[in-house]
Amino acid sequence: MEDNKTTWMNSTTEHQLGHKTIREFEQKPVPKEIVTLLFDVARRTASSNGMQQYSIIHVTDQAIKDEIAKVAGQEYIKRTPELFIFIVDQFRNASIAKAKQVEVHHGKDMDRFFQGFTDACLAAQNMVNAAESFGLGTMYLGSILNDSERICELLHLPELTFPVVGLAVGYPGQAPQLKPRMASHLKVFENTYQPLEDYLEAVKDYDEEMQNYYDLRMGNQRMDSFSEQVAAKYQMFMEKRQGLLKVIEKQGFR
Ligand SMILES: Cc1cc2nc3c(=O)[nH]c(=O)nc-3n(C[C@H](O)[C@H](O)[C@H](O)COP(=O)(O)O)c2cc1C
Repeated sequence: MEDNKTTWMNSTTEHQLGHKTIREFEQKPVPKEIVTLLFDVARRTASSNGMQQYSIIHVTDQAIKDEIAKVAGQEYIKRTPELFIFIVDQFRNASIAKAKQVEVHHGKDMDRFFQGFTDACLAAQNMVNAAESFGLGTMYLGSILNDSERICELLHLPELTFPVVGLAVGYPGQAPQLKPRMASHLKVFENTYQPLEDYLEAVKDYDEEMQNYYDLRMGNQRMDSFSEQVAAKYQMFMEKRQGLLKVIEKQGFR
């Protein structure tokens, strides 16, 4: 990590720079007042056009959690104290529009889908920041999209909704290392995009740093270099995930 710690650091940025995904939690509930506060933070988050085109499903039923863990292929999801699924939600506003005798065909397009998708992501990250400020650990779950159709079925998602990401929250039951990140100068450009001359050379230091990171998710093994991880990921293919667009269409979006 680039060392940005300075005397003017405040507690918000300190928490943000100390972010680590937590995958095992203490079996202790998150106080109800904190959960309510997390919902308030999500509710206060900026949203596209002020239309709040997302919803959160708070999964409290262990049987549903177990099924989500199956879809994700991550059994540690069963043990998450609090589990939230963020969804694109155009169903609510479409219902409001219909009640106002307005045709909702524009509510079904990709523009509205992505507005909802962005709203859901921003609300989720705001909740992460708030949760971490209370010493809670968090874990995103993109793995719910391994079978998005099954998630729609499990959560009874109506038309014009779609799952975006899961978020687990609880008191940390593990203390992972801070995972290295690529240097900002490789990801932040001024005015226009700047392709690099030699990508492997550019990530050489980061590759080395990553090899000194021990991943608790992989049984505390040393990680491959970043470029090896990229190469491996680009060779991976999951049939159900390739069919995401079909499920999005099945949910009524065009
Ligand atoms: C959109 C998104 C989806 C993710 N999905 C999963 C997941 O399904 N399972 C998991 O264990 N971690 C998941 N993660 C966590 C990432 O693996 C983690 O953020 C990344 O490896 C960096 O590690 P760190 O958060 O500890 O710094 C996800 C993160 C994001 C942003």
